[in-house]
Amino acid sequence: MTQTPQKTGLTAAERQYPLPPSRLDVSVYRDPDRYRAEIEAIFHRSWFPVHPSSDLPTARDFLTWDQLGQSVVITRLDDGSVAAWHNVCQHRGARLVDGSGHCGRARFTCPWHGFVYDLEGAVSSVPLRESFDEDALRGLRSPAVRVREWGGWIWLTLSGAAPPLEDYLGEIGRQLAGYGLEGFSTRFRTSVRLKVNWKIVMDAFNETWHVPFTHRDTLAGMVMWRDAVIRLASPHSWMTLPIRGFTQRAAPSADHRESHLCHYLVFPNTIFSCFPTHLQMWSAWPVSVDETLLCAYEVVGPPPAGRTEEEWQRHNERDWRQFLDVLGEDSEVINNIATVAGSLGFRHSMLNTAESRLTAFHREVAERIGEEEPA
Ligand code: FES
Ligand SMILES: [Fe+2]
Repeated sequence: MTQTPQKTGLTAAERQYPLPPSRLDVSVYRDPDRYRAEIEAIFHRSWFPVHPSSDLPTARDFLTWDQLGQSVVITRLDDGSVAAWHNVCQHRGARLVDGSGHCGRARFTCPWHGFVYDLEGAVSSVPLRESFDEDALRGLRSPAVRVREWGGWIWLTLSGAAPPLEDYLGEIGRQLAGYGLEGFSTRFRTSVRLKVNWKIVMDAFNETWHVPFTHRDTLAGMVMWRDAVIRLASPHSWMTLPIRGFTQRAAPSADHRESHLCHYLVFPNTIFSCFPTHLQMWSAWPVSVDETLLCAYEVVGPPPAGRTEEEWQRHNERDWRQFLDVLGEDSEVINNIATVAGSLGFRHSMLNTAESRLTAFHREVAERIGEEEPA
């Protein structure tokens, strides 16, 4: 696939940066009521990649996902599929499962009064059963959570009404499918707490023109940030970035995924930053109105032709160290924003056309919480 403009009749500048400048009131980052509305209207209704599939390699493996004030148990069933259910006992609300591991007996026992749950979250045994109302126990289970495996990741949504995953991903799913991510493996991971609203974190990763300033000694030498081309795929967005010394050597007709760094936002909180042979993926999880947990992964494909596994591993290690340097530079700027987050001297952001993805993102957020436009 070659790069094509989104609409006809656009100027070159509009094709690169599709939206006009906009303004954003600081309350979108600071208002606790708005934060709660975002959790409910956006995070309780979206799909998220929550773990690499390889974290559940064999039947009866389990893990937990704890974000957004929710806890979900994810299990590998004997038929190889995955199940997910809320990690809360239906008797009196105890937490059922901690951490991850292998559950050879395929049963989880509540640590409080011993209700037993199977791998799919159904109650299979109740102590003092005769002392309960039998009707209340019939078919009892911890509520299921919708879960899918796709592209090497376990995805879940807390909503029964969200569209099927492929429909939710739309164009971004079609883009990611071209990488063959099922054949990739997760080699490194890290997490970092950032003392700002989750949208400040997302904003920080959805434009490139901070690169020559924040990443002068790292990323600036690697990507041709001025030549980023932005595309909107509501509610998601993406951009292509030429890689210095690499993209120029690619045939002009080459698929952009084979010649560029392609940077995909899966709305609301996940970035897939894809090089032709490997990618970094990260998600920004809201902790509170002014705190975010960023979880990042390095995911690599098989060694390219002519490289041994050892050479490829060394390359991946070097690449991960570079990513950590870049992430450290972004984190420093972001955490310094926290020191002025309550400033009386700042009332609104000014977004330029190079920040079109931010404008589109904030419009999506506003629309989903029932605002006409960002405040
Ligand atoms: S809360 Fe789980 S058995 Fe009582
Ligand atoms: Fe950055």
